Amino acid sequence: MNQTINIQQLSLTETLRTKSEEVLKQNWRNGFTVPSSNLYPFQWLWDSGFIAMGWSFIDMKKARQELDTLLQAQWSNGFLPHIIFHDDNAEKQYFPGADFQGAHTHSFAPKHVKTSGITQPPVLGFVLEYLLEKEDDIELNRHFYVNAVESIFKFHQYLYQNRDPRKEGLVYIRHNWESGTDNSAAWDSIWQTYTPPTYDVQRKDTAHVNQAQRPTKKDYNYYLHLIELSKECGYDEEKMYENLPFLVQDPLFNSLLVASNESLVRMAVELDLPHIAEQCSIWSDWTGNAINRKLYDEELGLYGYYDLKNERFISIATAMGFSPLFAGIVSKQRAMRLLKIIESSAFSGEDQSLFLCPSLAINHPEFDPKRYWRGPVWLNINWLLYKGFYNYGFKSVARAIKNDSIRLVQQNGFFEYFNPMPDENEVNGYGGQNFSWTAAIILEMLN
Ligand code: GLC
Repeated sequence: MNQTINIQQLSLTETLRTKSEEVLKQNWRNGFTVPSSNLYPFQWLWDSGFIAMGWSFIDMKKARQELDTLLQAQWSNGFLPHIIFHDDNAEKQYFPGADFQGAHTHSFAPKHVKTSGITQPPVLGFVLEYLLEKEDDIELNRHFYVNAVESIFKFHQYLYQNRDPRKEGLVYIRHNWESGTDNSAAWDSIWQTYTPPTYDVQRKDTAHVNQAQRPTKKDYNYYLHLIELSKECGYDEEKMYENLPFLVQDPLFNSLLVASNESLVRMAVELDLPHIAEQCSIWSDWTGNAINRKLYDEELGLYGYYDLKNERFISIATAMGFSPLFAGIVSKQRAMRLLKIIESSAFSGEDQSLFLCPSLAINHPEFDPKRYWRGPVWLNINWLLYKGFYNYGFKSVARAIKNDSIRLVQQNGFFEYFNPMPDENEVNGYGGQNFSWTAAIILEMLN
C-alpha cells in the first residue's frame, strides 16, 4: 500500500515538474521570460529574478540570459526599471504601456529598449547567488558574474542615494507598484488622504481576468495618477520626493534588500571585489537594524510599513510582515512570536484549515480571498516565507507552506494567485494562467 502511494506521489511530482518546465519554455521569448503571455507580455523585474531560479533547473544558460537581458536595461544612474517593454507590438495588449508611463525618454534611460520609471523589490542579489552556487565551473562564466554583481551593486547604491533622504538605512518606494504587492490593503490609509482624478482609460487586464479578482477602477485612478505626477516631475528623484503623495518604507522591499546585500557580500568575496563586499556589509547591517527599529509592530507582533509622507506607522497584518525572517535579521524572541502569528487563526484558520499564507490576515475587514494582494496566496511570497521559517528552525510551518503551495498548484493549475480558503466546487486559482513564477517556485520547491 505504502509503496503504491509513493509511486503515485513520485509520478505526480514528475508530472508537476514537467508541467512547470513547459510553462517556462512556453513563456520564453528572445532572451527573457514573460510572466504570463496575455496579461503581462514583457519582462518584469522581480518576476525575472524568480524565473531565473526556475530556469536554473532546466538550462543554466537561459537562467543567466534572463538576468543579463534585465541588467542591460539598467539606467545610467543604477536604477532598474520594473518593466522592460521589449515588444512594441505587445504594447497594444497592455496598459499602461511605455508611452503612458513616459519614462523611456529620460536622459538616464537606455536607448535600445523602452522601460518604466518605477522599480520593484531588490531580489537580484540573492537570485544571482542562487545561480552562482549551481555553477560547475565558475571560471567559465566569471565575466557574467562579475558584471552582474557590479550592476546589482550599482542598483543598491542608487537606492541608498536616492530613496533614503534622511539617511535612516531604510529605502522608500514611491509607487505602490514598486512594492510588487500592487493593491495591498496596507495602502488604504494613504489613499484616504487625497482624491485622484478619474481616468477614463481602456484597461487591458480586465479583458483577460475577471474584474472581481483585480484592483478596482478606483484603485487604478490612484496608480495612474502617481504615474502622471512622476511624469510631471520628469522622473526627477528630488522632485518626486517633494511632490508624490505615496512614499513608503516597505518591510518586504527592505528585507529583500538586506538579503541581497548579504549575497553580494559573499559573492564579492568569492569574485575578489573587496570594495563591494565592504560596502554591502555596512548597508546590510544598517538596513537590518533599521527594519527592527522602525518597522516592527510591537502590538501586532509582525513587521509593518512606515508612511513617510504622512509620518505615520501603518499597522497591518500581511504575509509580507513575516519577510524579515528571510533576511535573517529577526531576534529569536520576535521570530517565536511570528511563528505563533502565522499558526494563529488569522493566517492558518480555525484548526489550520486554510492554505498558507493568505496575503492579508483573514480577520482584517478588507480581506478578500479572490482579490489579488488583498487575501490570495502568492507562490513567490510563500517561497520567501518557507525559506525564512525554515532557516529559523521552524521546520513544521515551513513544510506546511511548501506543501500547501504544491497542493494549490496540483489542484488548480499554474495560476498567478490562489484562494487560501478553497471551495471544492470551483477552480481556486485566479489571474494569469501558466504563470511563470508559479512554475519557477514549484521547480525550486520540488527540488
Ligand atoms: C502584478 C504583480 C507584480 C508582478 C506583475 C507581473 O503587477 O502585482 O508583483 O511583478 O504583476 O507579474
